[in-house]
Amino acid sequence: MSSASSADAETLVREVVSRSREALEIVRKYAHKTPVEVSATFSSMAGGKVLLKYENLQKTGAFKVRGALYKVYKIKDKYEGVVAASAGNHAQGVAYAAKIFGLKAVIVMPEGAPISKIEATKGYGAEVILAGRLFDETLKVALRIAEERNYAFIHAFDDIDIIAGQATIAYDLMEQVEGFDQVIVPVGGGGLISGVGAVLKYYRPYVSVIGVEPEAAPKTLEALKAGRPVEVQTGSTIADGLLVKKIGNLTFKIIQRVVDGVYLVGEDEIAHAIYLLLERGKVLAEGAGAISLAALLSGKISARNRTSIAIISGGNIDLTHIYRIILRGLAREGRLARIRGFVRDSPGQLRTVLDIIARHRGNVIGIQHDRIDPHIPAWHALVTITFEAMGREVIRKILDELSSAGYSFEEVS
Ligand SMILES: Cc1ncc(COP(=O)(O)O)c(C=O)c1O
Repeated sequence: MSSASSADAETLVREVVSRSREALEIVRKYAHKTPVEVSATFSSMAGGKVLLKYENLQKTGAFKVRGALYKVYKIKDKYEGVVAASAGNHAQGVAYAAKIFGLKAVIVMPEGAPISKIEATKGYGAEVILAGRLFDETLKVALRIAEERNYAFIHAFDDIDIIAGQATIAYDLMEQVEGFDQVIVPVGGGGLISGVGAVLKYYRPYVSVIGVEPEAAPKTLEALKAGRPVEVQTGSTIADGLLVKKIGNLTFKIIQRVVDGVYLVGEDEIAHAIYLLLERGKVLAEGAGAISLAALLSGKISARNRTSIAIISGGNIDLTHIYRIILRGLAREGRLARIRGFVRDSPGQLRTVLDIIARHRGNVIGIQHDRIDPHIPAWHALVTITFEAMGREVIRKILDELSSAGYSFEEVS
C-alpha cells in the first residue's frame, strides 16, 4: 500500500470509530443488544472455545438494521423519504429504520424476489417496487426514483454511516465477552467486517478479525490479491446475502487495513452448518449467517487454543430452503437413506428386503417398485427404498446383510 492510501485508510478507520460511538446510542435505542453465548457442542466439534453472536435474533432478523438505523437517523431532517435496492436484509432494515424515524421508504427489488421478503418489507410500511431481472437494473430504477422524488438513496454497504452502524456489534462483543482472540465475520459487500474490524482494531488490536465468503463469490479474496476491488464471476450460493460481484471502495480500503485474513467456504459446508445450528443449537440461521460457524467446523479457520466468536449475522431463510437443507443434513449423517437394487419379481422378495431393514430399526418412509422399465432384467423389479436410519454404520450393515442374502443394493442420493 502506498503511504498516501495508507493515510487515507487510517483516516477512514478513525472516522468509522468516531461515528460508531454516536451510532451506538441510536442502535441501542431501537435495536437489540443480541445475546452472545458459548456453545459447548460447537466448541467440542471445532476443537476450541466457540461463542456465537446471535444477530439472527436482531430486529428484522439480521444485523443490517444497525447500519440502516444510523444512516436514516443521519439524513432524516434533510429528506422526506429513502430508497434502497435490495431483496435481502438491507430492504427490511431500511424499511424498519424509515418507519422509526417517520420517513417514507421505497424498496426496489428484482422481479422474482421471494414473496416472503416482499411481504416482510411491506409489513414495515415500505412501498415495494419490483423492477429488473438483474441487480444492476434494479439499482438503476432505485437511483432514478431517488432522483425523481428527492429521496435519499441508502447504499447497502459502501457508506461510512452504514459501516459505523454495523460497527456497533463490536461494542456488544467487548461488553459481553471478557476475553476473545478472534472474530469470524461473513463478508458480502464488506460493511459488516469493515465496521467491526475498525472498532476492534482500535480498542482490542490483538483480536484477529477474519472474513469468510462463499466460494461462489470470492470478491474480497480476489480484491486483496489484485490490490483493488475487482469484479468476480459469481455462482449460485445458499448464502445469498453474500452474493456480491465486487467489494465496495470504502469497505475495501478499511478491510485492507483491519482484516487479518479471508477464507472461502463451500456450499456443502454452509448447508451443513445451517443444519447443525438447527439440530444441535436450536438456532435458525440463513446461509450468510451460518458461514462463520461453517468456517470453524470445516477447519478452514482453526479454533484451537483460542476463543473464537462467530457472528451469526441473520436468520431470514426461506422455508422452502430449510426442508431441503434438513433432508441433506439427515442424509449426510446417515439418519436418512435411499437404497436401490433389483429384486426378483416373485412373492415375498420385497418383504425379505424390508425385514432386513426393519431388523436394524430402519423406518421405511417411501418405496418405488418398477417392473415396466425395459432396462430392468426380465422377472425383476427395480426397487428404491427411502428410510430413516440410525446412522452411517447401520446403513452399511443393512447393505452388507442384503448382499449376504443375495440382494445387491447400493445407496443413492
Ligand atoms: C445475513 C447477512 N450476513 C452478512 C451480510 C454481509 O454484509 P456486508 O454486505 O456488510 O458485508 C449480509 C448482507 O446482506 C447479510 O444479509
